[in-house]
Amino acid sequence: MASSTAPNITEPLEWTEVEKVILTRRSTRAFKKEAIPDYMIRRILEAGRFAPSAGNSQPWRFAVVKSPEILSAMEADAVKISKRMMFVLDYTRSRLRNILLKPISKFFIRLRYNELHPVPFGLLAAIANERAPVFHHAPALILLFEDQRGVSCPATDIGICGENMVLAAHSMGAATCWIGMIKVLMYDPKWKKFFSVKYPYQLNNCLALGWPKVASDGQVPREVQHVEWYEGQMEEPPRIERQGE
Ligand SMILES: Cc1cc2nc3c(=O)[nH]c(=O)nc-3n(C[C@H](O)[C@H](O)[C@H](O)COP(=O)(O)O)c2cc1C
Repeated sequence: MASSTAPNITEPLEWTEVEKVILTRRSTRAFKKEAIPDYMIRRILEAGRFAPSAGNSQPWRFAVVKSPEILSAMEADAVKISKRMMFVLDYTRSRLRNILLKPISKFFIRLRYNELHPVPFGLLAAIANERAPVFHHAPALILLFEDQRGVSCPATDIGICGENMVLAAHSMGAATCWIGMIKVLMYDPKWKKFFSVKYPYQLNNCLALGWPKVASDGQVPREVQHVEWYEGQMEEPPRIERQGE
Protein backbone atom coordinates (compact mmCIF):
# COMPACT_ATOMS: atom_id res chain seq x y z
CA MET A 1 0.00 0.00 0.00
CA ALA A 2 1.20 3.54 -0.81
CA SER A 3 2.35 5.74 2.03
CA SER A 4 3.17 9.38 2.57
CA THR A 5 3.79 12.01 5.23
CA ALA A 6 0.97 14.50 5.88
CA PRO A 7 0.32 16.35 2.63
CA ASN A 8 -0.04 20.10 2.45
CA ILE A 9 -3.71 20.40 3.38
CA THR A 10 -3.30 23.39 5.67
CA GLU A 11 -5.38 25.76 3.53
CA PRO A 12 -7.26 27.68 4.89
CA LEU A 13 -6.22 26.60 8.39
CA GLU A 14 -2.60 26.20 9.52
CA TRP A 15 -1.72 23.10 11.55
CA THR A 16 -2.67 23.78 15.17
CA GLU A 17 -0.19 23.14 18.00
CA VAL A 18 -2.06 19.95 18.90
CA GLU A 19 -1.96 18.68 15.31
CA LYS A 20 1.77 19.44 15.09
CA VAL A 21 2.41 17.28 18.17
CA ILE A 22 0.25 14.47 16.74
CA LEU A 23 2.02 14.57 13.36
CA THR A 24 5.58 14.73 14.71
CA ARG A 25 5.43 12.41 17.75
CA ARG A 26 7.71 9.40 17.39
CA SER A 27 8.34 6.46 19.70
CA THR A 28 11.67 6.93 21.43
CA ARG A 29 13.85 3.98 22.34
CA ALA A 30 16.92 5.82 23.69
CA PHE A 31 16.48 7.90 26.82
CA LYS A 32 18.76 10.09 28.91
CA LYS A 33 19.49 8.69 32.39
CA GLU A 34 17.80 11.46 34.38
CA ALA A 35 14.03 11.23 34.76
CA ILE A 36 11.77 14.12 33.85
CA PRO A 37 10.73 16.03 36.99
CA ASP A 38 7.78 14.82 39.06
CA TYR A 39 5.72 17.95 38.34
CA MET A 40 5.87 17.10 34.64
CA ILE A 41 4.90 13.48 35.31
CA ARG A 42 1.90 14.77 37.29
CA ARG A 43 0.90 17.00 34.37
CA ILE A 44 1.14 13.98 32.02
CA LEU A 45 -1.03 11.95 34.41
CA GLU A 46 -3.56 14.80 34.38
CA ALA A 47 -3.82 14.52 30.59
CA GLY A 48 -4.76 10.86 31.13
CA ARG A 49 -7.13 11.54 34.01
CA PHE A 50 -9.10 13.97 31.85
CA ALA A 51 -9.48 11.55 28.92
CA PRO A 52 -12.99 10.68 27.74
CA SER A 53 -14.32 7.22 28.61
CA ALA A 54 -17.56 5.35 27.87
CA GLY A 55 -20.20 6.38 30.39
CA ASN A 56 -17.47 8.49 32.03
CA SER A 57 -16.53 5.26 33.82
CA GLN A 58 -12.79 6.17 33.90
CA PRO A 59 -11.84 2.48 34.01
CA TRP A 60 -8.18 2.96 34.90
CA ARG A 61 -5.57 2.94 37.61
CA PHE A 62 -2.04 4.30 37.11
CA ALA A 63 1.34 3.49 38.64
CA VAL A 64 4.58 5.42 38.18
CA VAL A 65 7.81 3.43 38.48
CA LYS A 66 11.01 5.45 38.93
CA SER A 67 12.99 3.23 41.30
CA PRO A 68 16.16 2.06 39.48
CA GLU A 69 16.06 -1.15 41.55
CA ILE A 70 12.50 -1.99 40.49
CA LEU A 71 13.12 -0.94 36.87
CA SER A 72 16.11 -3.24 36.54
CA ALA A 73 14.26 -6.12 38.24
CA MET A 74 11.40 -5.66 35.76
CA GLU A 75 13.81 -5.66 32.82
CA ALA A 76 15.69 -8.75 34.06
CA ASP A 77 12.49 -10.71 34.74
CA ALA A 78 10.89 -9.71 31.44
CA VAL A 79 13.96 -11.13 29.64
CA LYS A 80 13.86 -14.28 31.78
CA ILE A 81 10.14 -14.85 31.07
CA SER A 82 10.64 -14.14 27.34
CA LYS A 83 13.38 -16.80 27.25
CA ARG A 84 11.02 -19.31 28.90
CA MET A 85 8.23 -18.44 26.48
CA MET A 86 10.50 -18.84 23.47
CA PHE A 87 11.74 -22.18 24.84
CA VAL A 88 8.16 -23.45 24.71
CA LEU A 89 6.97 -21.65 21.59
CA ASP A 90 9.93 -21.67 19.21
CA TYR A 91 9.54 -24.98 17.40
CA THR A 92 11.83 -24.04 14.51
CA ARG A 93 15.12 -24.71 16.30
CA SER A 94 15.33 -28.47 15.64
CA ARG A 95 13.53 -31.24 13.76
CA LEU A 96 12.49 -32.95 16.98
CA ARG A 97 11.09 -29.74 18.46
CA ASN A 98 9.30 -29.15 15.17
CA ILE A 99 7.53 -32.51 15.49
CA LEU A 100 6.83 -32.36 19.24
CA LEU A 101 6.25 -28.68 19.89
CA LYS A 102 4.57 -27.38 16.75
CA PRO A 103 1.01 -28.37 17.74
CA ILE A 104 1.43 -26.95 21.27
CA SER A 105 2.92 -23.68 19.98
CA LYS A 106 0.23 -23.31 17.33
CA PHE A 107 -2.42 -23.88 20.00
CA PHE A 108 -0.97 -21.12 22.23
CA ILE A 109 -0.55 -18.77 19.28
CA ARG A 110 -4.21 -19.30 18.35
CA LEU A 111 -5.26 -18.77 21.96
CA ARG A 112 -3.33 -15.51 22.36
CA TYR A 113 -3.23 -14.37 18.75
CA ASN A 114 -2.75 -10.63 19.44
CA GLU A 115 0.14 -11.16 21.84
CA LEU A 116 1.80 -13.79 19.65
CA HIS A 117 1.11 -12.18 16.27
CA PRO A 118 4.32 -12.27 14.13
CA VAL A 119 5.29 -8.68 15.09
CA PRO A 120 5.27 -9.09 18.90
CA PHE A 121 6.56 -12.66 18.42
CA GLY A 122 9.59 -11.26 16.57
CA LEU A 123 10.13 -8.76 19.38
CA LEU A 124 9.75 -11.53 21.96
CA ALA A 125 12.48 -13.50 20.16
CA ALA A 126 14.75 -10.44 20.07
CA ILE A 127 14.18 -9.84 23.81
CA ALA A 128 14.84 -13.50 24.63
CA ASN A 129 18.10 -13.35 22.64
CA GLU A 130 19.00 -10.11 24.45
CA ARG A 131 19.07 -8.22 21.16
CA ALA A 132 16.39 -5.73 22.29
CA PRO A 133 15.64 -4.28 25.71
CA VAL A 134 12.05 -4.40 26.92
CA PHE A 135 11.81 -0.99 28.59
CA HIS A 136 14.55 0.77 26.59
CA HIS A 137 16.30 1.78 29.85
CA ALA A 138 13.73 4.52 30.38
CA PRO A 139 14.10 6.28 33.75
CA ALA A 140 10.33 6.17 34.36
CA LEU A 141 7.37 4.02 33.43
CA ILE A 142 3.67 4.72 33.68
CA LEU A 143 1.67 1.53 34.03
CA LEU A 144 -1.93 1.61 32.83
CA PHE A 145 -4.26 -0.82 34.59
CA GLU A 146 -7.69 -1.46 33.14
CA ASP A 147 -10.81 -1.87 35.27
CA GLN A 148 -12.60 -4.69 33.45
CA ARG A 149 -15.94 -3.50 34.84
CA GLY A 150 -15.76 -0.39 32.64
CA VAL A 151 -18.64 0.47 30.33
CA SER A 152 -18.61 -0.87 26.75
CA CYS A 153 -14.94 -1.37 25.85
CA PRO A 154 -12.54 -0.33 28.66
CA ALA A 155 -9.50 -1.24 26.54
CA THR A 156 -10.45 1.56 24.13
CA ASP A 157 -10.71 3.99 27.05
CA ILE A 158 -7.21 3.00 28.16
CA GLY A 159 -5.86 3.61 24.65
CA ILE A 160 -7.35 7.10 24.60
CA CYS A 161 -6.13 7.82 28.12
CA GLY A 162 -2.58 6.63 27.36
CA GLU A 163 -2.36 8.54 24.11
CA ASN A 164 -3.50 11.71 25.90
CA MET A 165 -0.50 11.21 28.21
CA VAL A 166 1.82 10.53 25.26
CA LEU A 167 0.78 13.69 23.44
CA ALA A 168 1.03 15.81 26.60
CA ALA A 169 4.56 14.47 27.19
CA HIS A 170 5.70 15.25 23.64
CA SER A 171 4.15 18.72 23.81
CA MET A 172 6.56 19.34 26.73
CA GLY A 173 9.60 18.08 24.82
CA ALA A 174 9.69 14.74 26.64
CA ALA A 175 9.71 11.38 24.86
CA THR A 176 7.68 8.19 25.19
CA CYS A 177 7.31 4.66 23.92
CA TRP A 178 4.33 2.41 24.48
CA ILE A 179 5.58 -0.89 25.96
CA GLY A 180 2.99 -3.55 25.24
CA MET A 181 5.67 -6.16 25.95
CA ILE A 182 5.33 -5.38 29.67
CA LYS A 183 2.55 -7.97 29.63
CA VAL A 184 5.11 -10.80 29.74
CA LEU A 185 5.63 -9.86 33.41
CA MET A 186 2.05 -10.90 34.13
CA TYR A 187 3.02 -14.54 33.47
CA ASP A 188 4.90 -14.34 36.79
CA PRO A 189 2.58 -14.18 39.85
CA LYS A 190 5.30 -12.25 41.68
CA TRP A 191 4.70 -9.17 39.51
CA LYS A 192 0.93 -9.51 39.68
CA LYS A 193 1.22 -9.43 43.47
CA PHE A 194 3.78 -6.62 43.38
CA PHE A 195 1.49 -4.30 41.40
CA SER A 196 -1.72 -5.61 43.07
CA VAL A 197 -3.10 -6.83 39.76
CA LYS A 198 -6.28 -8.73 40.57
CA TYR A 199 -9.91 -8.54 39.49
CA PRO A 200 -11.34 -6.12 38.47
CA TYR A 201 -7.96 -4.80 37.32
CA GLN A 202 -5.64 -6.16 34.66
CA LEU A 203 -2.45 -4.67 33.27
CA ASN A 204 -3.34 -3.15 29.91
CA ASN A 205 -0.19 -1.33 28.83
CA CYS A 206 2.78 0.78 29.81
CA LEU A 207 4.49 4.00 28.73
CA ALA A 208 8.25 4.48 28.89
CA LEU A 209 8.91 8.11 29.65
CA GLY A 210 11.96 10.35 29.71
CA TRP A 211 14.13 12.82 27.85
CA PRO A 212 15.16 11.65 24.37
CA LYS A 213 18.89 10.93 23.97
CA VAL A 214 18.73 12.37 20.46
CA ALA A 215 15.96 14.45 18.93
CA SER A 216 13.62 11.75 17.65
CA ASP A 217 10.33 13.49 16.89
CA GLY A 218 9.48 14.27 13.27
CA GLN A 219 7.13 13.12 10.54
CA VAL A 220 7.30 9.66 8.96
CA PRO A 221 5.19 8.25 6.13
CA ARG A 222 1.96 6.46 6.94
CA GLU A 223 -0.30 4.33 4.74
CA VAL A 224 -2.56 6.22 2.37
CA GLN A 225 -6.15 5.57 3.51
CA HIS A 226 -9.04 5.04 1.11
CA VAL A 227 -11.78 6.96 2.95
CA GLU A 228 -15.44 6.52 2.01
CA TRP A 229 -17.36 9.82 1.95
CA TYR A 230 -21.16 9.41 2.04
CA GLU A 231 -22.53 12.73 0.84
CA GLY A 232 -25.41 11.93 -1.53
CA GLN A 233 -28.58 9.82 -1.65
CA MET A 234 -28.83 6.45 0.12
CA GLU A 235 -28.58 4.55 -3.18
CA GLU A 236 -25.45 6.41 -4.31
CA PRO A 237 -22.12 4.69 -3.68
CA PRO A 238 -19.68 6.61 -1.49
CA ARG A 239 -16.99 8.76 -3.06
CA ILE A 240 -13.57 7.28 -2.30
CA GLU A 241 -10.92 9.79 -1.32
CA ARG A 242 -7.28 8.75 -1.03
CA GLN A 243 -6.34 10.47 2.21
CA GLY A 244 -2.64 11.21 2.41
CA GLU A 245 -1.92 11.79 -1.29
C1 LIG B 1 -0.21 -0.37 22.12
C2 LIG B 1 1.23 -0.26 21.65
C3 LIG B 1 2.19 -1.14 22.14
C4 LIG B 1 3.52 -1.00 21.75
N1 LIG B 1 4.47 -1.81 22.30
C5 LIG B 1 5.78 -1.61 22.03
C6 LIG B 1 6.78 -2.38 22.70
O1 LIG B 1 6.52 -3.25 23.51
N2 LIG B 1 8.08 -2.09 22.42
C7 LIG B 1 8.43 -1.11 21.53
O2 LIG B 1 9.63 -0.89 21.34
N3 LIG B 1 7.50 -0.38 20.87
C8 LIG B 1 6.19 -0.60 21.11
N4 LIG B 1 5.23 0.17 20.50
C9 LIG B 1 5.63 1.24 19.56
C10 LIG B 1 5.28 0.93 18.09
O3 LIG B 1 6.21 0.02 17.61
C11 LIG B 1 5.31 2.26 17.31
O4 LIG B 1 4.27 3.08 17.77
C12 LIG B 1 5.11 2.05 15.80
O5 LIG B 1 6.19 1.33 15.27
C13 LIG B 1 4.99 3.39 15.06
O6 LIG B 1 6.12 4.20 15.27
P1 LIG B 1 5.98 5.67 15.92
O7 LIG B 1 5.34 5.50 17.29
O8 LIG B 1 7.37 6.21 16.02
O9 LIG B 1 5.10 6.49 15.05
C14 LIG B 1 3.90 0.01 20.83
C15 LIG B 1 2.90 0.89 20.34
C16 LIG B 1 1.60 0.77 20.74
C17 LIG B 1 0.58 1.76 20.25
